[in-house]
Amino acid sequence: MKNSRIAKDGLVLLGCGKMGSAMLAGWLTRGLPASSVWVIDPFPSDWLRGQGVHLNEALPADPAIVLVAVKPQMMADALPTLQMMGNGTTLFVSVAAGTTISYFEQTLGAQTPVVRAMPNTPAAISQGITAIVANAVAGAVALDEAETLLSAVGQVVRLDNEAQIDAVTGVSGSGPAYVFHMIETMAAAGVAQGLPADLSMQLAKATVAGAGALALQSDEDPAQLRVNVTSPNGTTQAALEVLMDAENGFPALLARAVKAATDRSKELAGG
Ligand SMILES: NC(=O)c1ccc[n+]([C@@H]2O[C@H](COP(=O)([O-])OP(=O)(O)OC[C@H]3O[C@@H](n4cnc5c(N)ncnc54)[C@H](OP(=O)(O)O)[C@@H]3O)[C@@H](O)[C@H]2O)c1
Repeated sequence: MKNSRIAKDGLVLLGCGKMGSAMLAGWLTRGLPASSVWVIDPFPSDWLRGQGVHLNEALPADPAIVLVAVKPQMMADALPTLQMMGNGTTLFVSVAAGTTISYFEQTLGAQTPVVRAMPNTPAAISQGITAIVANAVAGAVALDEAETLLSAVGQVVRLDNEAQIDAVTGVSGSGPAYVFHMIETMAAAGVAQGLPADLSMQLAKATVAGAGALALQSDEDPAQLRVNVTSPNGTTQAALEVLMDAENGFPALLARAVKAATDRSKELAGG
């Protein structure tokens, strides 16, 4: 990042809350000079004030990238302030849920290169996953730049079309919350079976984290990893018969949960 177009022409971060701060921390760690970053945020955190970036200062006329990380409901106030950077060489990368590429084109001009991204909260510890999709104006170079930028907080995957963003939101965007709830309910179930609450929570957290890390690192797929730990008529099989029940288990439950989030994402984008 040290010698990139971003370092030379500058990067503007519009909105520096949880997601913006996680990304900024990743870029600075990877060698992007603080002097190349302009941040606009009405109430900057103490952490942000200490980073040496340009904070709420006059912006460069033609920055390489504007990263938009305000809440969708603030978008109509925040984005028009950058209208003069539209229809040019500045690439707009947005992580805002529910704000479509066409909204950016309407607000900034149809010739504005736009990449829409859907990250998730493990970005805060550089273990996020972000899906990206670009408009036709943004070329291959723009997608590469967006990928470089977002890979500072985890993996990056590319989508074939913008419609897939809704399902991505249903799986990985909202997904960390499903897993947090699984940890909560697993710990509560342990308490119901006689364990102290603290111990049960420690077991649940470490089990989900360890299984997740194993699933990521292993050459075997998760289905095989499951089979590997399921001895016939053993304890795991007893639980899996409950969890894998076609009607009342994970298959139907997660299908409904992911569909509900996907549908809501479509509604938000439409309204
Ligand atoms: N968190 C996630 O897991 C996640 C996942 C996927 C996508 N996203 C998307 O990421 C975006 C940011 O989410 P977040 O969780 O980081 O929210 P957040 O913590 O509320 O951050 C938004 C930041 O933007 C600032 N802001 C508000 N109005 C502004 C304006 N007019 N100009 C410049 N900055 C302004 C806010 O300042 P104040 O606090 O002072 O209002 C705040 O610091 C959202 O669009 C969200 O959809 C988040």
